Amino acid sequence: MAGSLALAGPQLIDLHPPAADLRRLVVAGMERQPRQLPAWLLYDDRGSQLFDAICQQPEYGLTRTETALLQQRAAELAQALGPGVLVEFGAGSARKVSPLLEALQPDAYAALDISTGHLRQACRALQQRHPTTPVLGISCDYSQLQQLPAHPWLEPRRLGFYPGSSIGNFSPEEAVTLLQQFRRLLEPNSRLLIGIDQPKAVERLEAAYNDQAGYSAAFALNLLHRLNRDLEGDFRPEAFGYKAWWQAEHSRIAMALISRESQTVTLAGRRWAFAAGEPLISEYSVKYTPDAFAQLAHRAGWRPLQRWSDAAEDLSLHLLEPAAGTSLADLEPDSAQPHNDR
Ligand code: AVJ
Repeated sequence: MAGSLALAGPQLIDLHPPAADLRRLVVAGMERQPRQLPAWLLYDDRGSQLFDAICQQPEYGLTRTETALLQQRAAELAQALGPGVLVEFGAGSARKVSPLLEALQPDAYAALDISTGHLRQACRALQQRHPTTPVLGISCDYSQLQQLPAHPWLEPRRLGFYPGSSIGNFSPEEAVTLLQQFRRLLEPNSRLLIGIDQPKAVERLEAAYNDQAGYSAAFALNLLHRLNRDLEGDFRPEAFGYKAWWQAEHSRIAMALISRESQTVTLAGRRWAFAAGEPLISEYSVKYTPDAFAQLAHRAGWRPLQRWSDAAEDLSLHLLEPAAGTSLADLEPDSAQPHNDR
């Protein structure tokens, strides 16, 4: 019966973190020096739209290059992944997965994302394009998820998909913890296909995060609107500028809102002083060479199987499998939850 009929529609599971978590995370981030808020806060409904716009800017090649690579290599990637359920972390608009779904024909597709409204839309659109693949949306902070929810579609074997170099939002230490976490969520007998943006000319990197049209700035500034709305803030967005710059010593782009003046802001029931020129880090974007990433994966108990890149070596897709001789038990001592201070 199944297979011949179009499915009734995508299913959705809501595991979104409660508002109390938001308050605690924001207060902790505001107390850091420099102040730094979790990157996932950028993705409210408006933020998710602005991010989609960034992906279409001429300076931001990552999405175009990765999408083309996925299209060109879909058959090979599907072959290397093998059968199972495809689980995408941070699916957003889920615009990259279609060629993989077609080539792979997975038993089911699960999309995890923090932006509930955006996820619902993405799952609906995807279910229409792929009527015979069961589509499951899980609204959550995937970095904090203890396990995937019990669901008949999430039977092993699980194939992780983490495109877009989103791992760059985590510090390298947090990234190791996150990769361990993925291993736990995907076990047993899993594979992980992950997209990694690589270091390149500084001018190109800085331009990608400072687009002419101003979407990068609008994306970061939207954070202040969100904080005003969700945590009774009184930020004046016009009192902050936006800046993104390469930090070679950390192999990362830093993105920050910069206070234009000395000012005091109310947020989450507290007063916060900003000096003129003081940054509020909205996110980092760490870039890894293929070797540096392979080492990171290794530390998390993954073994690189294969790598695909574009001709210019701007980015690559790495396929990982659990390293032989490392069981989950071996990973346990290290497997504290990744900090939420991306
Ligand atoms: C979603 C984290 C991969 O770092 O390139 C792009 C986020 N922010 N422009 C990136 C982002 C501003 C993006 N990641």
